[in-house]
Order: sequence, then structure tokens, then C-alpha cells
Amino acid sequence: MERSKALEDDYISPGLEVISLDGAFPNMIVGTKSSNMWPYLRREIGHHWYVDRRNPTVGFLSRDEAMLLFNIARQHFGKPCLEIGCWRGWSTAHMALGAGNLEVIDPVLADPEFSKDVAQSLQRAGAGSSVVLHVGSSPDMVVQLSEETGKRWSLVFIDGDHEGDAPRLDAEVVHRYAGEDAAILLHDLTSPYVATALAWLRDHGWTTAIYQTMQIMGIAVRGVVKPVAHLPDPRQRWTLPRHLASFPVIGETRGLRLRRIVTDIEGQPPEPETEMANSGLDVLSDADAKALDALLAWVADSLEHRHEIAIAFDELQARYLRLLDRLATREAEPDLSQEFSRLQAKHLEALSRGADLEYQLDAVQSESEAVAEQLRQEREVTRGLVVERDLLTKMLDRVQRKHVEVLGHLSRLQARCSQADVQAEPARRISEALAQAALAAEHSVELRVAIDRFASWMARKRVLFGLSRRLLAGRTKEVQGLIEHNLRVSGVPDSLIPAAIWLARMRVVLGLARRCALADVLSAQGHLVLSLERSFDISWVGTHYAMAQGAAAAPMRTTELNLRDQVGELENQLRAAQKRFAALEAAKLADEKALLEADLTIVRLQKPQEAQVS
Ligand SMILES: C[S@@+](CC[C@H](N)C(=O)[O-])C[C@H]1O[C@@H](n2cnc3c(N)ncnc32)[C@H](O)[C@@H]1O
Repeated sequence: MERSKALEDDYISPGLEVISLDGAFPNMIVGTKSSNMWPYLRREIGHHWYVDRRNPTVGFLSRDEAMLLFNIARQHFGKPCLEIGCWRGWSTAHMALGAGNLEVIDPVLADPEFSKDVAQSLQRAGAGSSVVLHVGSSPDMVVQLSEETGKRWSLVFIDGDHEGDAPRLDAEVVHRYAGEDAAILLHDLTSPYVATALAWLRDHGWTTAIYQTMQIMGIAVRGVVKPVAHLPDPRQRWTLPRHLASFPVIGETRGLRLRRIVTDIEGQPPEPETEMANSGLDVLSDADAKALDALLAWVADSLEHRHEIAIAFDELQARYLRLLDRLATREAEPDLSQEFSRLQAKHLEALSRGADLEYQLDAVQSESEAVAEQLRQEREVTRGLVVERDLLTKMLDRVQRKHVEVLGHLSRLQARCSQADVQAEPARRISEALAQAALAAEHSVELRVAIDRFASWMARKRVLFGLSRRLLAGRTKEVQGLIEHNLRVSGVPDSLIPAAIWLARMRVVLGLARRCALADVLSAQGHLVLSLERSFDISWVGTHYAMAQGAAAAPMRTTELNLRDQVGELENQLRAAQKRFAALEAAKLADEKALLEADLTIVRLQKPQEAQVS
């Protein structure tokens, strides 16, 4: 759409100074109202709804509204002016050009691209140098800015957050920082939330009115400031939301007001005749006009009040329906009393467990106290033990030093012992030889006893003659058996018996018998003893003794006196043995002599027998 055509195409109240800034906003287009979901957008009003093509759901001021803002701003030229909510800068440009200066607050300016775009548009509109953009949100940013600059605002345009309490909070903060002579303009009073802000200002001393524009603007003034005149578009069938019924509409004739109120009450416009009649209302006398205005104000108030009651009723009904719903849901739920009993039982159980736990806690506490006491005692004992340990450690040190000393002694003693061992070696050898000699002497004594026993048996005449007779009769085996048997019973070991078998020879037996007969039994016995000792070779007693004698030649230790004793005893035994040996030697010589004589006798005895045989 061409710019000039756009202006022609749209409504602007007569009496307003007009400017065209469309060229500064190349992305501005006429938006599609039907595609917008906001419930307070007046789609039925035949004025253009402008948007930015990049964000087609967010609307700008309509052209009539923008001109109104520009004209109101002109009233405040050079005075502190503030805008809350600039969006793409359309309203900002109009306000800034009217007032010549402007502070702007909008959180959307935090986006650098967005902020840059706004600044460029303002530049194009020729308002760049008049505007300061602030990133932030009302009401906090309003407080900060007002406090920092100390400004008291002459004109504030509020078109920021439209929801909930936000518009009222904006109004409250602006009221606090507005000058004595000031105007506050609000956009979108179609929304009851924004209307609440205007009502709040009215309640706080501001004179309020509304402009019948596409989205309805509200104005609150105080001091010398008067609202700019405005004529609502006569081509539109204006209505007013019930929440605004009590506010005067700027530029609305008494007839139009009556028509609007009747339409509101009856739900349809009045008859044309009535409308005709109403046209005369604007030329009433002052008294009548005042009375009619009071009546219309009262009707409007009651309409708004009825509206408030209706809203309250609607809310109550909605609550009532929600409660019914909840009740129905509750009834559909399973029996809660059972669940309650179960929970109560659990609660009781938890209580009793709690009591148990408390009891256990008490027990644990007293136990821990006892343990602490025990620990304290043990600590004392430990302290005593530590003292004792220190003493023992010192003693141990002393003992260890002593031990080292003793070890030194011991090693010296060991060295001396090794030396003594070397010295004792000859004595040990003597001792061994003497032990051997003693053993041999012991054995020889036993054997000698056995030899003596056997000799006393065999040297008997009866035995010798018996044996001789058997031998002469050729019974040699029998004689051997007898001799073996008697050797064994006399105590001669079996191993030595073969060495004595010569006793069974005829010559030996007859020789003994002859010795027995010619000399005596003792002679035969002595002969037998000597012969058997030779056969059994018991002369080794002497060998061992000689070895001991040889070893004794080596130096001996004075400490081995006991060995000396043993040696002395053995020497005694040796001497006794030598004595006996000498006796036996003498007996042997006698025997030799007797044997020779016996041989002669035997020869003599045998000669007559041989002579008889021959
Ligand atoms: C509908 S737009 C304003 C349109 C603009 N006045 C125009 O006609 O060109 C609403 C703006 O209010 C801003 N806004 C929302 N909450 C705000 C707040 N708490 N303080 C300041 N601005 C806010 C949004 O970012 C958005 O830019």
C-alpha cells in the first residue's frame, strides 16, 4: 500500500496534527486480525491493525492512536517523557517526535539485532537523537531510572506487559514518579487488566477518560494537563466493554452516549425515531444536560457494577462447577474411609516404632556412656602401662647391652673351648682306648668264666674216659655233639664254638684223660683252659691296654681326673689279669711236662695191647 494512500485509507480524528512515518518502518504491514488469537483484539472495528512482517502476531498502535500519542506528546515537549514497551519503535517514533525527548524501557532490547533495528527505524523517522533506549522491565527499571536521573515524568505511555497485575503495578510505579502536572496514557483498555490500572489511577486522584479508538486508549491526567480532544470515527458502531462503562469517552456526544448505553442495556441499537429524538439531547439547557449526564453516569456505573457482579457470578459459577467436578471425581474414588483407617493404623504403628526407637536410643545412650567410662578407665590403665613400658624399655636397653657384653664373653669362651677341644683330643683318644680295653676285659672275663666252667666239666675223669671210650668205639660225632652242647651250656658264644671243635679229636681227649690219670684233674683242667684261651684269642685285652698306654704318653689335661680314675681301675684289673696269666703260665709249663710224661705212659700202655692184638 502506498504511504499517502495508507493515510487516506485509515481513520485519523479531525483536529489532530498528522505526521507520516510509514517510510521509516519498511517492514510494517497491515496484519490479519482473524489470525490473531488475543481475546481483546477488536476485530469488528474497521481500522487497520498494523504489524511487523517479521512478527505478525504483535500489533502496533492504530493510525488514529499513533496520531493521538503524537499530539499528546506535543503538549509535553521538552519535559521528561517515558515509554514502557516500545516493540519495533512505531509508537516510540511518534511520541519522541512529539515530545522532543524520550526514555524507553523494554526487555526485548536485550537482543542486539532487535535493538539495532529499532534504533535504525528511529533514525529514519528523524527521532534517533531524541530517544534513549534502556534494556529492562517495568516496574523495577522505572524505579531505577527515576531514582538515578531524579526525573519526575511529565508524560508516560504504558504499553508493556498486559497480563494479570502487571498493568496495575506499572500504573502504581508511574504514579509514584510522575510530576505534579502529568498525563499517563495506556493502550489496549479492551483488556480488563489494563482497565484495572486506569481505575487504580482514578482511585488515586487522577482524572481519567478513554479514547474510543480501535483498541481503546485510557488517559489519566492531573494538575494543569488536559486530555487532547478526539473524535471517535463516526463510521464505526462503537461499543464499550462493560468494565469501561463508568469512564467518560472523550469526544462522545450525549446522544451517542445515550445510544451506546441503551444498546448495552437492550442488547440492540434503539429505534431510528428514538435516535432522531436523541439528536436533540446535545442542545439541552445546562440544567437538563447536567441532570441527564448524572443519570447517564449513574446508569453507566450501575452497568459496570452489574458487569462486575456478572463477572463475579461467572467466577463463582465456574468455581461451583469445578467443585461439582471434584465432588464427582471424589465420589467415583474408592472408599476413602478404609484408606484413612489404613493410614491411621500406619500412623499409630509409626508412633509406636518411634517410641521403640526412643527407648532404644536411651539404651544406646546409657550404653555409650558406660563405654565412655570404660574407655576413660582403660585410658588411665594405658597411661600406667605406658609408664611401665618406658621403664621396661630402659631395662631392656640395659639387658641388651649386657647381652652384647655376654655375647662377647661367650665368643671368647667359645674360642677358648675350641682351643681346649684341640688340647683334649689325646685324652679323648686315651679314653676311647681305655673304654675299648674295659669292654674287652669285661668280655674276656665272661669268656674266661665260660672256659673255666667248661674245663671243670671236661677235665673230670669220668667225662674224659667216657669220651675216650666213645672215640675209640668210633662214635666221633656223638663226642662232637657232647662237647658242643657243654660249650654252649657253659656260656661259650655260638660264634666261638667252631674254633673249639678240635676238642673232639681222639688225641686231645686221650691226652687229657692220660693227664688226668697221671697227674690230676687240675692239670687237665689248666691245660684245657690255656688251649681254649688260645683258640678264642682273648689276648686282645692286652692289645687295647697297650694302645691306652701309648696314648697316655700324650699330654693330658688336668681337668680329666675322672678319666684318670678309670684308667687306674683298669690298671688294677690289668695287674690282676697279669697275675693270673703268670699263674697260668706256670701251670702250662707243668702241664707241658706232665703231657710229655702222659704221652710216654700212653705209649707204654698201648704197647702191651698192640702185642696182645698181634
Ligand atoms: C504490544 S507491544 C508494544 C507496541 C508498541 N507500543 C507500538 O505500538 O509500536 C508490547 C511491548 O511491551 C514489552 N514489554 C513486555 N513486558 C514489559 C515490561 N515489564 N516492561 C517493559 N516492556 C515490556 C514487550 O517486549 C513489547 O515490546
